[in-house]
Amino acid sequence: MKGKFVVSVLLAAGVSVAAFAEVTSLRGDQEIGANNEVATIKQVPKKQDRLALDYVNQPPLIPHSTDQVQINPSNNGCLECHDVDKYRKAGAPRVSPTHYMDRDNKMLGDVAPRRYFCLQCHVTQADAAPMVENTFEPAGKFGE
Ligand code: HEC
Ligand code: HEC
Repeated sequence: MKGKFVVSVLLAAGVSVAAFAEVTSLRGDQEIGANNEVATIKQVPKKQDRLALDYVNQPPLIPHSTDQVQINPSNNGCLECHDVDKYRKAGAPRVSPTHYMDRDNKMLGDVAPRRYFCLQCHVTQADAAPMVENTFEPAGKFGE
């Protein structure tokens, strides 16, 4: 009985030591008290040319940074430049009519709620390596 207890304690100790060896904290493998390495934040270009589409109905990629733009229930910073009554003055491409349609294709007077949170579909680009492998192959003329 006693021997069994000692063995299981040793096993438990061994397992937890092994687990510690594999886990590295976000700080990296550094001595306590040593200075942390500064993580690199990916840079979003302030402005670049509009980006090519990869398939017909793709939400176009955002060619500019968006970290200063606020979207909340009372204000949508994107629409300050992209809405149909603002885009000419701002020199921005306008939101297309689909953004005014509800799910029954009824045309509304304002951008439809389902299109209100722009960053759900449109994404800003940074010069970064893909986080997971992507084997997407566009069809038709996009694939040529
Ligand atoms: C200060 C004005 C301004 C604001 C605010 C702004 N944009 Fe833009 N956006 C532009 C301009 C100008 C372009 C066109 C850039 C070009 O042609 O090089 C553009 C381009 C785009 C495009 C590319 C469209 C295409 O057909 O390729 C998308 C998508 C877009 N913006 C989405 C957004 C979203 C989403 C937000 C809010 C998070 C936003 N923009 C906020 C001015 C703005
Ligand atoms: C549910 C996904 C979705 C949301 C949310 C959304 N979009 Fe789009 N957007 C698209 C798709 C898909 C397209 C391309 C096809 C189309 O026009 O419907 C597009 C096209 C655009 C274009 C290019 C239009 C053109 O004629 O080339 C602009 C600009 C744009 N969106 C801006 C916005 C802004 C600003 C918002 C937020 C108010 C927004 N979008 C919200 C999916 C979305």
